[in-house]
Amino acid sequence: MSLTVETAPGQKLYRAVVDALRREIEIGRFAETQLLPAERVLCELLDVSRTTLRKAIADLIAEGVLFHRHGAGTFIHRATPRVEQPSSRLTSFTEDMRLRGLEASSRELERGVFLPTPEEAMMLGVRPNERVFRLGRLRLADGSPMAIERAAIPIRFLPEQDSVGSSLYEALSARGFKPTRGLQRLRATLVDNADAELLGVALDSPALYIQRIAYLADGSCVEFTKSWYRADAYDFVSELTLSP
Ligand code: GLP
Repeated sequence: MSLTVETAPGQKLYRAVVDALRREIEIGRFAETQLLPAERVLCELLDVSRTTLRKAIADLIAEGVLFHRHGAGTFIHRATPRVEQPSSRLTSFTEDMRLRGLEASSRELERGVFLPTPEEAMMLGVRPNERVFRLGRLRLADGSPMAIERAAIPIRFLPEQDSVGSSLYEALSARGFKPTRGLQRLRATLVDNADAELLGVALDSPALYIQRIAYLADGSCVEFTKSWYRADAYDFVSELTLSP
């Protein structure tokens, strides 16, 4: 296998290597490991000298396409998709991602049935002895961490918690408890150590803290969720209209 390096008139060879490598990365050639092959292998593939290859790699690092990890090699930056969520529609994470052609997935952090905290009892309007189902998840879009979500649902809406698969809203809707209205509060915050690690961002990175209370058509409160969305990956967009 070889890669063709075509130099445009007046173009330096190493810049043509930059273009060739960028093209390969764009079509997903090294996507599986995100690791660039060893220098020797690349020199053979591209039929160029080490000096030329190193200059090309240095440019791709400067452009943010590649990064070097000491002792491990040169990696391809996986671009985090930036997602827009219209803040006036009640949608689930799964739907939001699907609408943007991204695949939603989750890593479960917590799942269980507990007595509500005083805050949960107040927000959900449940009695202190009415248990809630708590679900903590790291939410990913095309494999990139986007948000941490911690949801509390009164147990009467989800007596069989095992029925909750990849989408909480789908599980609720399947039982006839489709959330139809929500109140959402957004606040700027910084992520702490544990959350930074889960989200794959530096400690004290900015995040959007979102609290959602969702209701059923009959007005009962079905969900109280706290989320921390990566500020570098999420935009909340509101439509503004003149008041009548
Ligand atoms: C959004 C909301 C959460 C809600 C979740 C449900 O992300 N911020 O409050 O719980 O969607 O998403 P899904 O149905 O994909 O589990």
